Amino acid sequence: MKQNNPASLQVLYTRREIEMTVNRLAEEITREYQGRKPLLVSVLKGSVIFLSDLARRLDFPLELEFVQLSSYGSGTESSGKIRMAQVLHTPLKDRDVLIVEDIVDSGQSMAYLLERLHKKKPASIKLCCLLDKPSRRKVPVTVDYRGFTVPDKFIVGYGMDYAEQYRNLPDIYVIES
Ligand code: IMP
Ligand code: MG
Repeated sequence: MKQNNPASLQVLYTRREIEMTVNRLAEEITREYQGRKPLLVSVLKGSVIFLSDLARRLDFPLELEFVQLSSYGSGTESSGKIRMAQVLHTPLKDRDVLIVEDIVDSGQSMAYLLERLHKKKPASIKLCCLLDKPSRRKVPVTVDYRGFTVPDKFIVGYGMDYAEQYRNLPDIYVIES
């Protein structure tokens, strides 16, 4: 890896481990959504790499939408104040909605998004996250499909950033700043 940054990165999951986990999630979700056409709502920017791998393994018709939430500045701690920086335009009424997220940390972002989306009266809403950091939870969030449970460390790569860096790394790392 040739990224110009002095921070040290340690591999947490290799691309092979990620691939196997994405395959497992895709099989589970494919079984669940047979005969339906859900709307996948990907949370920008962190989930886009996960979404692009996952969506190509889902064997049923689906639609894609994107939302952007903001709470994090360039630091590693959530401010707790969430806002919708990009909103959804597709009507959700009576749709099956599957949120695709990179990581659930304090839970504040997902609690906020779930509440907003519930108001649009979808038929169902489920949450798929690649990483879950339950030790940091401040508000309860139900994760329906979970890739890995991770320790209380700051994680980068495979879409996830630190100050907008490292999203393009194919493996997942713990960052020691
Ligand atoms: P939460 O609202 O605290 O659950 O976290 C909101 C968002 O912060 C997540 O969806 C991620 O995009 C980002 N985030 C949380 N923990 C990490 C991390 O360890 N690395 C990179 N981004 C993170
Ligand atoms: Mg995210």
